[in-house]
Amino acid sequence: MAVLLPGGAGFIGSHTAVELLNSGKEIIILDNFSNSKPNVLDAIKKITGKEFKFYEMDYLNRDGLEKVFQENKIEAVMNFAGYKAVGESVKKPIEYYTNNISGALVLLDVMKKYNCKKFIFSSSATVYGEPEKIPLTEDCKTGGTTNPYGTTKLFIEQILKDIYASDSTWDICILRYFNPVGAHESGLIGEEPQGIPNNLMPYIVRVAKGELKELSVFGDDYNTPDGTGVRDYIHVVDLAKGHVLALDKLDKEQKGLYIYNLGTGTGYSVLDMVKAFEKATGKKVPYKIAPRRDGDIAICYAEPTKAKKELGWEATKTLEDMCLDAWNYIK
Ligand code: UD1
Repeated sequence: MAVLLPGGAGFIGSHTAVELLNSGKEIIILDNFSNSKPNVLDAIKKITGKEFKFYEMDYLNRDGLEKVFQENKIEAVMNFAGYKAVGESVKKPIEYYTNNISGALVLLDVMKKYNCKKFIFSSSATVYGEPEKIPLTEDCKTGGTTNPYGTTKLFIEQILKDIYASDSTWDICILRYFNPVGAHESGLIGEEPQGIPNNLMPYIVRVAKGELKELSVFGDDYNTPDGTGVRDYIHVVDLAKGHVLALDKLDKEQKGLYIYNLGTGTGYSVLDMVKAFEKATGKKVPYKIAPRRDGDIAICYAEPTKAKKELGWEATKTLEDMCLDAWNYIK
């Protein structure tokens, strides 16, 4: 029995593929390389010393997906094939809603047809919108997303709740990621955004490398200790391990729909990140203070104790690991 990973060649998918293989699971990756490269597959094999099946395919291709289910015994699906660039989603809402929502629906419908009802969904802290309280617990209100990307995560969560309400033989886990950063310690897989990065860590790395002149710190007048935005950065390998434990939970426990925050529970500001990166790598990161970015909130970090209690999951990597591994990959 295998775990199917649509989008498994991407940033979070590839790291999860490694952790699943390391835990002895059989996996199948399905990817159209829209935001990843074929060499990631070899890197996963090199890191783990294990083989897996791969299909080059868009997950919206229903006939192709059916063939994958006919040819293999699939026990569970983890969906990493969603588009994830906030700014791009504002410019291309149709593409985002189609890829993320129609894609998820095609996948879920094919799963149902082949009686595979174990699903782990990559959601995001973005579903909390403007946080009701800090730290965020899983029962905090959701909604008020400020861009189509975030809205696709919110809608898919609702779709999953409706599916479970209609048929309690589904076994669903929604993982709300905070801010995934870093890379595998081998330096063989990591994050490689195309063009100028939107997210903080990839931007810092490119400035440190000398490819970009300076970081713009978006706002220093937030109600935070140093005035810059505070987030819960989490090492991608810790995040990946959360998926393996979520699958264990679905395997062991009675069927249900479970929701977990995957964050460290600690918030760091933009300037904390710059300083931590400089200290860990010895590289300078020139920056300037710029106006606030539209749609940004002041503070967002998780209360991760539910995942600790119910999954036995806890982030173990430090901010230094996140900085060093992100740098090591790009360097
Ligand atoms: C965003 C999305 C989130 C998504 C995540 C990863 C929102 C509100 N958040 O998170 O859903 O999961 O990306 O793709 O849509 N910053 C700078 N300069 C930069 C870049 C960022 O100062 O050049 C600051 C931001 O203002 C923020 C912090 O760094 O305070 C983190 O930004 P970023 O890495 O883009 O992540 P989020 O906006 O938290």
